Amino acid sequence: MLNKKTVEDIDVRGKRVLVRCDFNVPLDENRNITDDTRIVGALPTIEYLIKNGAKVILCSHMGKPKGEPKPELSLAPVAKALSEKLGKAVIFAADDCVVGENAKKAVSEMADGDVVLLENTRYRAEETKNIDDFSKELASLAEIFVNDAFGTAHRAHCSNVGVTKYLPVAVCGYLIQKEIQFLGNAVNNPVRPLVAILGGSKVSSKISVINNLLEKVDTLIIGGGMAYTFMKAQGLSVGTSLLEEDFIEYASDMMKKAEEKGVKLLIPVDTVEASEYSNDAEIKIAEGGIDDGFMGLDIGPKSIELFKDALKDAKTVVWNGPMGVFEMPNFAKGTNAIAAALAELDATTVIGGGDSVAAVNKAGLADKMTHISTGGGASLEFLEGKELPGIVAINDK
Ligand code: 3PG
Repeated sequence: MLNKKTVEDIDVRGKRVLVRCDFNVPLDENRNITDDTRIVGALPTIEYLIKNGAKVILCSHMGKPKGEPKPELSLAPVAKALSEKLGKAVIFAADDCVVGENAKKAVSEMADGDVVLLENTRYRAEETKNIDDFSKELASLAEIFVNDAFGTAHRAHCSNVGVTKYLPVAVCGYLIQKEIQFLGNAVNNPVRPLVAILGGSKVSSKISVINNLLEKVDTLIIGGGMAYTFMKAQGLSVGTSLLEEDFIEYASDMMKKAEEKGVKLLIPVDTVEASEYSNDAEIKIAEGGIDDGFMGLDIGPKSIELFKDALKDAKTVVWNGPMGVFEMPNFAKGTNAIAAALAELDATTVIGGGDSVAAVNKAGLADKMTHISTGGGASLEFLEGKELPGIVAINDK
């Protein structure tokens, strides 16, 4: 259970409340928001604060403007979307220095229940370095701090960690509460059998996740580009597939660890191999190893069946990372089949990580999953068993 104070533990009426959200949403070339999941995820906390008469001052980063104003990374489109979703005005304080004249004036004129959104916190170079002066400026606007930015919880920045030094109260919002509850229970207190599915391109980016999950799961399924390093470790040929030579031994160690722990570790038994990295490439199904001059770009039909079979009795499933290059239709079958299998399970299904979330959304199966995390890097670090600085900084109950 989350042992952190939440918005419900404090009195917010009439108070200026600074809320850190993760409004780092994807935009198209015309700066239209293409996926508003993170905005929707932030609404319960914002609506609670409005209903309870707080003066709601929202802040977030977007992208990586590297410490200077970049108009294409302004939060203006978020202000508009938020205003539509809340059905009320959201005053956008368009200060390049974030806490400038516009922000100060807008905050000083707020009535209870009003909402102000500050400009992209990463317009300030201090933000990502957690330098005190910007933390103090942010804190000077408010009396209470609420962190609801789960997607940023693995960062120690001014707007989620530094600011807590200068405000007497730091609590979490409903989104962080929900993320910790679902991810935390899935990994630390699961209804068993617990199956984790890991995919994506690199073993190197998931070393600690694999290591930590082997301590917790009953079955670990490995697909995606990272599977080829495991196949190589089993002595199979991998053709021109993605291979991390430096991690072959690690993969081998992980297979040994799984055996010692009695964890079933499954890697693909067949592969959709292609002559080049293109949807129009020549395609074959390879059993066991991959042919010379070919690269694996998706799991094959037998692997799909093997993985589905391993999932059928699962009571908790955590999925992070696609099974193949799902952006290309010819290599999307494996990922889609896993998404469809999860959708049918009578189990708690938790999806974390940008690509698997995108795949589930693309397959139209998001509403069939128990929980879709709004955190990419944050959910991965959570699965690694790390403490997230953004969570640590929130007051304990
Ligand atoms: C994310 O998109 O994962 C979060 O918004 C964090 O963004 P960052 O990786 O740029 O810190």
